[in-house]
Amino acid sequence: MRILVVIPTLDEAENIGPLLDRLLALPLDLGVVVVDDASADGTAAIVRARLADPRLLLIERPGRLGLGSAYAAGFAEARRLGVDFAATMDADFSHEPEALPALLNRAEREAADLVVGSRYVPGGSIDNWGPGRRLLSAVANRLTRGLVGIPVADCTSGYRLYRTAVFDRVDPDRIRSHGYSYLEEMIVACWRAGLVIREEPIRFVDRRAGRSKISQIEILKGAVTLLRLGLSRRR
Ligand code: GDD
Ligand code: MN
Repeated sequence: MRILVVIPTLDEAENIGPLLDRLLALPLDLGVVVVDDASADGTAAIVRARLADPRLLLIERPGRLGLGSAYAAGFAEARRLGVDFAATMDADFSHEPEALPALLNRAEREAADLVVGSRYVPGGSIDNWGPGRRLLSAVANRLTRGLVGIPVADCTSGYRLYRTAVFDRVDPDRIRSHGYSYLEEMIVACWRAGLVIREEPIRFVDRRAGRSKISQIEILKGAVTLLRLGLSRRR
């Protein structure tokens, strides 16, 4: 197995089955780990029923421990398995599985440590997001660039491909944010470590079923994280 795809889930019962079908049909040597935080809708049971497939793993956690800590749990699994790459994507089809080969090609062609599936480079796009979500995402990215100085257009994208060797340089467990802002903090840590980051354009499509799990609290925590990252720049 070369790539482990990490999929955090919180109430994604409508999505997870079809997503696994599409991922496992890709012409890539990949495995998938679903990191479920005690979904109330039976998401974990759907995955459990398919565990006879050796390419599929399930981590069940006792409660809502956060998107970032779910990524970290998946990365620990990738290191344990000794795969070359760890990918992350939403469970809701916002991140098209069929874009994964392009991310992988880019990483190999340009010897990148991290390839971001980016909405904000030429060729990237967002479908069906309302003005509120677009504004939030634009502000978060402007602030990250402005406060931290990182030259990445999409610092909040959850669609990513990391070389597993990255985690020897940037310890996933030492990222302080455990929620959504793990994404910003992780990419800033990678950049500060001097790693090679590339952005591959993606088409982001709003989820087709279920609801977004992002909350006002997560947005507030994101702002605090950005201020902390901005301040640590000066030290
Ligand atoms: N295990 C676990 N624990 N999974 C979680 C948690 C959690 O606490 N919170 C969210 N998830 C899962 C969701 O089930 C989904 O698969 C994925 O993490 C992302 O959550 P969404 O609810 O789909 O987020 P979004 O689409 O509104 O947010 C998107 O934009 C953000 C900002 O650009 C995503 O692409 C995020 O990855 C991104 O940070
Ligand atoms: Mn989503």
